[in-house]
Amino acid sequence: MNTLTFPPTFQWGVATSAYQIEGAAQEGGRGPSIWDTYSHIPGKVVHGDTGDVACDHYHRLETDLDLIQSLGVDAYRFSIAWPRVQPLGQGAWNEEGLAFYDRLVDGLRARGIAPHVTLYHWDLPQALQDQGGWESRDTAVHFAEYARVMGLRLGERVASICTHNEPWCTAVLGNEQGRFAPGIQDTRVMLRVAHHLLLSHGLALQAMRAAGVSTPLGIVLNQSPATPATNSPADRALAEREYAQFVRWYMDPLFLKQYPQGPDLPVCDVVQAGDMDTIAQPMDFLGINYYMRLWCSAATPPLPAPNAMGVSEMGWEVYPHGLYELLCQIHRDYTLPPIFITENGFAGADTVVDGRVVDTPRIDYMRTHLQALQAAMAAGVNVQGFFYWSLMDNFEWDSGYDKRFGLFHVDYATQTRTAKDSAHWYHGLIAAHRHG
Ligand code: FCB
Repeated sequence: MNTLTFPPTFQWGVATSAYQIEGAAQEGGRGPSIWDTYSHIPGKVVHGDTGDVACDHYHRLETDLDLIQSLGVDAYRFSIAWPRVQPLGQGAWNEEGLAFYDRLVDGLRARGIAPHVTLYHWDLPQALQDQGGWESRDTAVHFAEYARVMGLRLGERVASICTHNEPWCTAVLGNEQGRFAPGIQDTRVMLRVAHHLLLSHGLALQAMRAAGVSTPLGIVLNQSPATPATNSPADRALAEREYAQFVRWYMDPLFLKQYPQGPDLPVCDVVQAGDMDTIAQPMDFLGINYYMRLWCSAATPPLPAPNAMGVSEMGWEVYPHGLYELLCQIHRDYTLPPIFITENGFAGADTVVDGRVVDTPRIDYMRTHLQALQAAMAAGVNVQGFFYWSLMDNFEWDSGYDKRFGLFHVDYATQTRTAKDSAHWYHGLIAAHRHG
């Protein structure tokens, strides 16, 4: 399938997250988050970059909204910085922060763009981390209250609310590998964090629904199929284990009310009676972020991935077929609500030359992933929208400003945004679907 033809109702969007673009870290009554703390520790982020200023989106809201509109997208996915609206993660609310998100939501709607809200994209209020963070069950209770208040405030004006973005990253990168905030390296903590994230999702859905919030509710998971490097029993067992820890650790609780079990799999020690029922609330949609596959080689040294279609600046293998494989697999394994691809994107070595950014590899990435998506939909998977990651270059966590995922190039010295060729390409694709 070489042409891209999606149903007329298909939603085209772009995505960002609060800490990666907003800046204004100490303004407007915002409290500190774990990413403020972490990024300021020398050696944690490339070049010592922080999100203090980022894309200065907080001060450039109106012109950034115009930028989004210029793409012709139907939808915009953004996250709320919990410490901007509730500086300590419990107790007092910050009206100035809430008003910022009111302006964002109203500004999108005025431009005919549907707002899709993420409640947690990794910027936990530092005050909650100081009390144990996600290792503590109390954090899940505080999160549910935050969700309830945001649901009441924004629910009627937004197209969807998702609780968490990529709980695997919070749990594993943040609390087992220590590569992300809060920088903890402890497998037992990771398992508790993962459980409390899932629990908080269930509690948040219950709280929002009990409060009468009627907008579609869901969660966003990062997922990958796992490919054994060879057909050997060791490689196949490794692929199964990696898939269980990456995908099934979140999907099984949400849809089957249980954690995956097996001799090679860990056990979480904080599961209480009733938790699995709480986690498995019915969902209105499932968001999937897809970037690459898991390549599984048990050999020493491991067999390298073929990388037939190249790698991005992140070093991530470009493997569009994995999106098809993944969607077909979860479609077989679970009874799923409608799916949105909430992130998919490419980091390139993008530079502005004479006012232009030639980013052909990104266009190829988008085209081939959308072809794979189209094939999955033809095979029966119910996908209702696609959000490119990201609207503009931004603070790429431990990679700082080194990695550029945007459709718009950002010159951080001047905050100039320049449309890359891919922005024009995406605009054309969306326009063709409107009028075609
Ligand atoms: C995802 C994150 C997003 C961004 C992209 C590249 O894991 O959700 O914030 O960092 O990767």
